[in-house]
Amino acid sequence: MLVARDLVKDFLTPRGALQILKGISLDLSLGDALSIMGPSGGGKSTLLFLLGALDTPTSGSVELEGQKPFELSEKELAKFRNAKVGFVFQDHCLLPQCSVLENVLAPTLVARPGDYRPRAEKLLDQVGLGERTTHRPAELSGGEKQRVAIARALICEPRLLLCDEPTGNLDAENAEAVASLLMDLEQREKRILIAVTHSPELANRFPNRMELKSGKLESRL
Ligand SMILES: Nc1ncnc2c1ncn2[C@@H]1O[C@H](COP(=O)(O)OP(=O)(O)O)[C@@H](O)[C@H]1O
Ligand SMILES: [Mg+2]
Repeated sequence: MLVARDLVKDFLTPRGALQILKGISLDLSLGDALSIMGPSGGGKSTLLFLLGALDTPTSGSVELEGQKPFELSEKELAKFRNAKVGFVFQDHCLLPQCSVLENVLAPTLVARPGDYRPRAEKLLDQVGLGERTTHRPAELSGGEKQRVAIARALICEPRLLLCDEPTGNLDAENAEAVASLLMDLEQREKRILIAVTHSPELANRFPNRMELKSGKLESRL
């Protein structure tokens, strides 16, 4: 369960505080998949960062499976993020010097005993890159890199998968493949999936659709 209540985010600028999020509330359950559209600069990334506890709100709360990240100590918060949240960014953010397999395993290197290699290999199979485990990111297409980033986000079996413009840098064909993959993965394992996107093609594939406008969330048909 993900519960967000009255999230407000102000950024301080030389001309004073700028209110980007003006009270956002959300209730999502395992298995829910939500897309959020909205104008550039409207606060979509800011909202995802708050939901994933990568940034703190000016006011308001987030609760994921009974845990309130903003009330945790720094150490507990790092553990919470590592265990509960997977993040996929627009620019895959893979480590260029590491292989595909090493990139997927990277989040497990932080205080996670155990052999994650079989799961990493299985995930890479699921994203269609089972034959590319030893390649470096530079040897992959944009869509393939994004699929590695999705596998990496899922390696610790997060309850919450957050995607920030996951197809924003891809051509139509690769965007379609990544969108299908996200939907497919969502059906295999129950988690909460939230993607922000400019793309109506991606957004409309989600059963729940919202728009972030003037700092508020509204339903989209
Ligand atoms: N750290 C920050 N300091 C000041 N302003 C910021 C900061 N991060 C984002 N902003 C501003 O907040 C607004 C929303 O940004 P963002 O969440 O990235 O929008 P979106 O993802 O919808 O394009 C933008 O006007 C941006 O300039
Ligand atoms: Mg953004």
